[in-house]
Amino acid sequence: MSSPVRNGRIRMFNLAERLTHGAAALSFVVLLLSSASMMWSWARWLMPVFGGPRWVALVHVWAGYLFTLALVVALLGGFRSWVLRVLRWGPNDLAFVRHFLAVYFSRHSYADAPPQERFNGGMKAWSLVAIAGGLGVAVTGLLLAFKGSVGHAGFQVVLGLHVLFALLLTAGVIGHVYLAAFHPEARQSFGSMFGDGTVSLEYASTHHAAWLEEVGVKPQRAGRAGVPERAH
Ligand code: HEM
Repeated sequence: MSSPVRNGRIRMFNLAERLTHGAAALSFVVLLLSSASMMWSWARWLMPVFGGPRWVALVHVWAGYLFTLALVVALLGGFRSWVLRVLRWGPNDLAFVRHFLAVYFSRHSYADAPPQERFNGGMKAWSLVAIAGGLGVAVTGLLLAFKGSVGHAGFQVVLGLHVLFALLLTAGVIGHVYLAAFHPEARQSFGSMFGDGTVSLEYASTHHAAWLEEVGVKPQRAGRAGVPERAH
């Protein structure tokens, strides 16, 4: 079997995964900003970006269809490579979660956690929140788009649930975007998700050593923050 490592890099996300994630991220931003412009007066200045009061609701609904499509494609297309993996929890995932707040606020390094799979315990937890929150917001959104299906009283209940799921998801996305785009150690994966899908072998060794073993690659000996340790 040929090695999956090319020029010191290994593919973590394939094109389909990057495209569905990109569609989810883009549609989520449009959903968030368009709903804010409709709900809160301080955000009303955003409305012209979505075509003004006549178009903003329509833009919101169509962004909702794109989000739902991306979620369904990710769930069906990535059933084995994503859904089954994030449902399977072992002692190393739980140890990572216990360690997670300290890693999040850069008090511990990823290198201090036990070896992680392709999705570490934090990515698994976020994936489950994204799936539950995403399905909740999509199903309630579809019910609201086809108003006739729920009646007037039902509409108010479904709207309340839609906002609750949206708030849950937004809180998760804010935490996720900080980690993915700004966290000193984790942000290296940004170029992978929004670039060619690869991460450096150093990064994979520190963050996903168990995954490297699984695909037959020997992890590099790594120290804190993904920097290989010098020989003593
Ligand atoms: C809006 C800006 C977003 C940015 C900058 C972003 C960035 C990223 C990056 C860099 C990764 C790879 C993380 C890693 O390898 O460690 C990732 C993974 C992922 N993203 Fe996003 N993302 C965004 C929005 C979203 C949204 C809206 C969702 C779903 C509602 C989402 C769900 C996921 C999931 C489930 C994963 C795989 C698990 C994980 O890596 O934590 N992302 N994202």
